[in-house]
Amino acid sequence: MTLPLRVKITDVGPRDGLQNEKQPVPAAVKIELVHRLQAAGLKDIEVTSYVSPKWVPQMADNHEVMSGVQRQPGVRYSVLTPNLKGFEAALADRPDEIVVFGAASEAFSQKNINCSIAESIERFAPVVEAARAKGIYVRGAMSCAVGCPYEGEIAPERVGYLAGLMKGIGVQHVGVADTIGVGTPRKVQAAIEATLQHYDLNDVSGHFHDTYGQALANTLAALEMGVWQYDTSVAGLGGCPYAKGATGNVATEDVVYMLQGMGIETGIDLDQLIDAGAYVSEQLGRKTGSRVATALIAKRA
Ligand code: HMG
Ligand code: MG
Repeated sequence: MTLPLRVKITDVGPRDGLQNEKQPVPAAVKIELVHRLQAAGLKDIEVTSYVSPKWVPQMADNHEVMSGVQRQPGVRYSVLTPNLKGFEAALADRPDEIVVFGAASEAFSQKNINCSIAESIERFAPVVEAARAKGIYVRGAMSCAVGCPYEGEIAPERVGYLAGLMKGIGVQHVGVADTIGVGTPRKVQAAIEATLQHYDLNDVSGHFHDTYGQALANTLAALEMGVWQYDTSVAGLGGCPYAKGATGNVATEDVVYMLQGMGIETGIDLDQLIDAGAYVSEQLGRKTGSRVATALIAKRA
């Protein structure tokens, strides 16, 4: 067991967290959330996505949000770009990192991005090439790495296959995503193992949704393999519009609390993070999805 001493957290709350909200969330709220996350010490923030506004109306304000953020030096702002059209729109807003997002499951690829896995790779290839030519870092998300809402359980070989395709087109880093949160520790480890056939440990992250309450256990399982990069969502916000019933990523607050308790450095101020989560929860008119935030806010009062 080689636990990392330091963990890098990308807060995906502004994007993954808010993309599925039914009511429009004002751009000003999204911008303020980004500001509060960076004030809490987050150095990596997934801000928005450049996808079709017909498919995901909540992200239609991508330009307004990206251009409204007062950037802090040392913070990396990433955005999702599924095709060249999205990438070209994103370019104007100077992202530090872009994310192409594919799936280990054919059915999910079709539902989410309207094409097969093979077609998605063809679409991503010119995006990856153009981004790298401009010095923009390229991350790939691998959805349904453990289970798919349409196909059920996904074998690790299919994750390995997708990771190989991503590597082949020059994607620099891949995230192993449990889109619907069905994974359990050994299955998540198998998906990561398959990914490590193609990517270095330093180029792999975990992206675990918490639908079945397994995400913290899955994070620990990945930590035990030495994985030190995770996507998490402040207040546990979120879910994917093409994965019915799936809830948000594991709450950033919960992961930070666990890591602090284990003596693993994150650079994040838990108190300020809790304030950021309380802010967005209040704006959305709901209780936080973070157990740690719930407990610590109760203790404050
Ligand atoms: P398509 O319909 O196949 O695309 O959609 P198309 O090229 O045929 O174009 C159709 C229309 O969309 C055209 O407009 C295009 O201009 C427009 P029209 O002529 O009909 O008015 N269009 C675009 N508009 C804005 N931005 C673009 C863009 N591309 C085309 N980039 C597409 C393909 C990928 C665009 C579509 O399927 C889509 O937007 N899907 C949304 C996918 C999405 O955002 N899903 C959620 C994020 S992924 C996720 O949450 C998972 C993750 O968290 C990891 C995990 O947990 O698993 C990352
Ligand atoms: Mg996700």
